[in-house]
Amino acid sequence: MKRTIKIAPSILAGDFGNLEREAHKAEEALADILHVDIMDGHFVPNLTIGPQAVHAIKKSTSLPLDVHLMISDPLKYADEFIDAGATNLTFHLEINQDVDSVIEKIKRRGIDCGIALKPGTPFEKVVPFLKRIDLLLLMTVEPGFGGQKFMSGVLSKVSQARQWMDRENLSVDIEVDGGISSKTVAEVVQSGANVLVAGSAIYEASDAGVAVKELRELAYKSSKFKVKSLKEIKKLKENKCRNG
Ligand code: DX5
Ligand code: ZN
Repeated sequence: MKRTIKIAPSILAGDFGNLEREAHKAEEALADILHVDIMDGHFVPNLTIGPQAVHAIKKSTSLPLDVHLMISDPLKYADEFIDAGATNLTFHLEINQDVDSVIEKIKRRGIDCGIALKPGTPFEKVVPFLKRIDLLLLMTVEPGFGGQKFMSGVLSKVSQARQWMDRENLSVDIEVDGGISSKTVAEVVQSGANVLVAGSAIYEASDAGVAVKELRELAYKSSKFKVKSLKEIKKLKENKCRNG
């Protein structure tokens, strides 16, 4: 199955006083998508931004917005984040809501739907939903904060997920989030992840473009997937800019 590596800077690690500039930074760094973390102070012990700020980010970038909902009530708020410009919406399996209803709500709006698992949640729990979703986000830190240490124990779950998708012939992206850096990227890609979220490794680098390039190159080297070359990516971006 053809699959591409995507590098997703997490704007959580950027300067919240200037989200527009931080979104531009990711775009100029030739990232593929922009990861936006939504926290409600209830599902996780931290608060971030709401739909208005997502809308402001959307207006300032042409990058697809990969919105990660760490909130207890996605059923109530999904529509607002979709209206705000989410390209895809990912919610957590650990919520106390009917998972099928949340999938239905998101898919009905015509956007891609993802399910996220905390590090301690076994892969088996998400299996009944895999045929209906587009993305599986495997957290490699406890959700809530950027800059935490990568949990290598999750790697076996990444491999398990990739083997399952291949065996069942499912084209579900496998995204990893938390502690992804030049030190950890090879092992997550070797295990089968293809969407790589990185907050501090990109936003705290002295040059975000160099950090994205390094992550991409390391991912290419470790990948079994069909990946785009940097030349191809630059060409695609140039065409996109020309065609608006
Ligand atoms: C954590 C968030 C992550 C976070 C990753 O709950 O979901 O997206 O921004 O940050 P780093 O890459 O610094 O671990
Ligand atoms: Zn995230």
